[in-house]
Amino acid sequence: MFRLINVTHRFGGHAAVNAVSIDIPQGQMVGIIGRSGAGKSTLLRMINRLVDPSEGSIRFGDIEVSSLRGAALRNWQRDCAMIFQQFNLVPRLDVLTNVLLGRLNHRSTALSLLNMFSREERIMAIAALERLGIEQTALQMAGTLSGGQQQRVAIARALMQQPKMILADEPIASLDPLNAKVVMDALRDINEREGITVVTNLHTLDTARNYCERIIGMSAGRVVFDGPPRELDAAAVRAIYGAGADGSEIDETVTSTSIRGAVSAQLQDNNRESVSAAPLVLAGV
Ligand SMILES: Nc1ncnc2c1ncn2[C@@H]1O[C@H](COP(=O)(O)OP(=O)(O)OP(=O)(O)O)[C@@H](O)[C@H]1O
Ligand SMILES: [Mg+2]
Repeated sequence: MFRLINVTHRFGGHAAVNAVSIDIPQGQMVGIIGRSGAGKSTLLRMINRLVDPSEGSIRFGDIEVSSLRGAALRNWQRDCAMIFQQFNLVPRLDVLTNVLLGRLNHRSTALSLLNMFSREERIMAIAALERLGIEQTALQMAGTLSGGQQQRVAIARALMQQPKMILADEPIASLDPLNAKVVMDALRDINEREGITVVTNLHTLDTARNYCERIIGMSAGRVVFDGPPRELDAAAVRAIYGAGADGSEIDETVTSTSIRGAVSAQLQDNNRESVSAAPLVLAGV
């Protein structure tokens, strides 16, 4: 069990994440939604210890993650692999080497830089690429791949860390609908087959509903919804996205990865079904 207990992160006086408590059982697929600035990225970055909590406790089993240092902290960061919107590959290195870089936390940097990846690691990297259906790109420069292919390389690199958890910060926000589906399908497949916990920030409601068994809605640093997709009704959507009772405060310019179009009519309709079908995205998110 992974636990956040009353976790707060302040930038100056501003609480970007404010007293958040969440328990995540191993193997869950969790989507975090909320408008821009709600604290989604800060929350993920605290889990991975890219930023430290100002207050509160982060625990994995018996381990107090928030106080790990040195090698123990590096081990933790290996255990929870991060995936980013912009893929974060080394564009001028070939795909295989990019994937092998996922092993950096398993060995000394010096050896890795000397191109000393073992035969086993190379086989493992090819297998990871095959798993993601992109083994044919192994020797191409990463920067020449499509966005969807690059994100799959990033997932293959994450798998090389043999993580317990994958933290994905808007992994499909830069992708067209087809590639977005391929990447989300890959994350779901890894979650289901390997039992790796996936916690992903998503900017579209419809993606969270389609892929995540649990949705956490954040607003102004706080968790304002935590439940399965079927409980995410119109009132919950308003609590998360800050709309008034008539939906008027929502900027509904929709840039959904699956469907494009305005959803204001649907938001104003209290019919649960129509809201649940709405691919709500906030402009600029
Ligand atoms: N490095 C920083 N320094 C100061 N304030 C920051 C920093 N990073 C984030 N913030 C602030 O913390 C709050 C939460 O930001 P965060 O990036 O976590 O939101 P988010 O939900 O991921 O938003 P988005 O959907 O735009 O990615 C915002 O008010 C943001 O301005
Ligand atoms: Mg963010």
